[in-house]
Amino acid sequence: MTQIPRAAVIGNPISHSLSPKLHNYWLRRYQLQGEYVALQVAEDALEKTLRQMPQDGFIGANVTIPHKVSVMQLADHITDRATLIGAANTLIFKNDGKIFADNTDGYGFIANLRQGAPDWDPKAGPAAIFGAGGAARAIIVALADAGVPEILLANRTRPKAEALKTEFGTRIQVVDWVQANLMLADARTVINTTSLGMKGGPEFKVSLEALRPDAVVTDIVYNPLRTPFLQAAEAAGCITVDGLGMLLHQGVPGFERWFGKRPEVDEETRRAVLS
Ligand code: ATR
Repeated sequence: MTQIPRAAVIGNPISHSLSPKLHNYWLRRYQLQGEYVALQVAEDALEKTLRQMPQDGFIGANVTIPHKVSVMQLADHITDRATLIGAANTLIFKNDGKIFADNTDGYGFIANLRQGAPDWDPKAGPAAIFGAGGAARAIIVALADAGVPEILLANRTRPKAEALKTEFGTRIQVVDWVQANLMLADARTVINTTSLGMKGGPEFKVSLEALRPDAVVTDIVYNPLRTPFLQAAEAAGCITVDGLGMLLHQGVPGFERWFGKRPEVDEETRRAVLS
C-alpha cells in the first residue's frame, strides 16, 4: 500500500497558521492525493520530530516561528538563498532521510509585488524598509537580488539594522527610527516588515507624508488586510500590495516540490484562505 503523501507546517504556536488552509485548498483544486497538517513542535522536540516525520509519511514541511533558524543546523543540504538569509521555511525529506532546506520568503515577497504591482521596477530607485527582524532579512536579500540600487533601513533598535548592513553590505544605509519618515522622500519601494499595525497590537506611527505617489508600498502584516500603513499609502496615491500574497506565494515552491504541481495564486486562492 502506498501512503498518501503528507506535508506539514511546524511551529510553536501553530494554530493561527493559514498554511493548512492554503495547501489543502490547492490539493483539492488540483485533485491531488495528499494532506497537509499543522504540527505544534516545542523547541526541544524539533530534531526528534524531523527525524520521525519521514517515517510517518511526510515528504516535506514548512517551518515557521520559532524554528526557522534552528532548522538550519539539522538540514543536510541548504540552498544558497537560505544560507544567505540564515533561515529556512521549506523542507524536503529525501528518500534516504536527508533533509533539504530552502527559504522561499524572498521569492514570495517578490512574486507578490510583481503580481500586485505589475509595473513595479525595483531598479527605479531606493527601497525603504521599516524593521530589521527575520522578515527583513529575507526581503533585503530578495530586493538586492532584484536589482534595487540602494536600501534605506530603519529599525527601532538601531544596532539590529547596523548588523544587517555589516552582513549584507554597502548598498544598505541605516536611518535612525526617529527619522524614518525621511527615507520616504526618495523611496520607490516601501516596505513595513515590523509587526506594527497588526490587529490588536501597537500602531505604526511614523509619518508617511513624504511618500512619493509613484512609490509601490507593501506591508508584511496581513491582519487586517488593509493596514493603516497601506491605507495612508493609498491616500498618498501610491500603488499598494497587501501582505497576504507574500504568504500565499511563499508556499508555491514547496507545494510544487512535494505534490508535483505548480499552484496558482489568484483571487480564488485568497478567498479560500480567508474563508
Ligand atoms: P519577524 O521575524 O517577523 O521580522 P522579529 O524578528 O521579531 O519578527 O522582528 C519584528 C520587527 O518589528 C523588528 O524590526 C522590531 O523592532 P526591534 O528590532 O526594535 O524589536 C519591530 N517592532 C516590533 N514592535 C515594535 C514597536 N512597538 N515599535 C517599533 N518596531 C517594532
